[in-house]
Amino acid sequence: MNGRADLAILPTPVQRLDRLAEHLETQTTLLVKRDDLTGLALGGNKARKLALLAEDAITHGADCLVTGGGPQSNHARITAAAARRIGLECHLALGGPPRDVHDGNLLLDELLGAHLHFGGADDYYGIEAAIDELATRLREQGRAPYAIPVGGASTIGVAAYALAIDELREQLDRDPDWIVVADGSGGTHAGLLAGLGEDSPTRVLGVDVGTRPDLDERVPELALAASQYLGRAAPNATVDVDHRHIGGGYGELSDACLNAMRIFARIEGLILDPVYSGKAAAAMFTALRDGRIGPDDTVVFWATGGSPALFAHRYEAVISGP
Ligand SMILES: Cc1ncc(COP(=O)(O)O)c(C=O)c1O
Repeated sequence: MNGRADLAILPTPVQRLDRLAEHLETQTTLLVKRDDLTGLALGGNKARKLALLAEDAITHGADCLVTGGGPQSNHARITAAAARRIGLECHLALGGPPRDVHDGNLLLDELLGAHLHFGGADDYYGIEAAIDELATRLREQGRAPYAIPVGGASTIGVAAYALAIDELREQLDRDPDWIVVADGSGGTHAGLLAGLGEDSPTRVLGVDVGTRPDLDERVPELALAASQYLGRAAPNATVDVDHRHIGGGYGELSDACLNAMRIFARIEGLILDPVYSGKAAAAMFTALRDGRIGPDDTVVFWATGGSPALFAHRYEAVISGP
């Protein structure tokens, strides 16, 4: 199910990471699910969510999509692209003051002609409130906005990742032992749990990148809501969120993240992003090193995209690093 608007290029490939396993001197089978290749405006995990959300917006007769995030939000960029693809406007509530330089995702938001509304708080709850206020303002002006929470983590957005498990199951002989994924809003993690259902052996390691403070509570709630929406059995997996790889905070590049990005790039030619998937990869390396993920296990590393944020950073450390 890819929505009427046909926004995401699916299925995304699953690839082996044998060179990475060799480099890390592990017997563990490492696979990557290439959701960086979903296509829409440079791709990423949000394209799956937007495929369903855009369809819902059409069903509700919306005339614009409204969402928000930090100034380098991948979700905002993909929402802006989805809106265009279905012929609507997009309004974005972006945290903090207006920026002098529009680079990375912000440049793409501009290119896509999104209406940028800066000035609100730039913490998670502040941005959620700013999205609601923006939608209310538009409604008062006679518009028909379709509001999407931070990260696209509404029940419908989350359900998109339950469907991604159906897709993965078509691609693998059996469920993997582990899936490793970055947790921003937690919607992707929650959807994966909803898709795995009640009797899968798979453990999902969600890696907190510092977007929201309530992942431990919200991931199971979102997973339950998505499984109910899809009419599936409630997931019974333990919710596993790694809070140890946030580094200095959301969007702050850590040495471990940079190191993981370098290894993925130089060993597999695969580009991770500095805010989400780099930190998820760092957490996977830790779990392989400390034996939490064992030699007989199979791991799917869920690559979630986000590369535009690379072009909003200065990387002296990449150039000077090993
Ligand atoms: C590149 C990338 N990876 C991972 C995530 C996390 O996804 P979720 O918000 O569903 O937890 C995001 C969210 O913005 C993202 O942009």
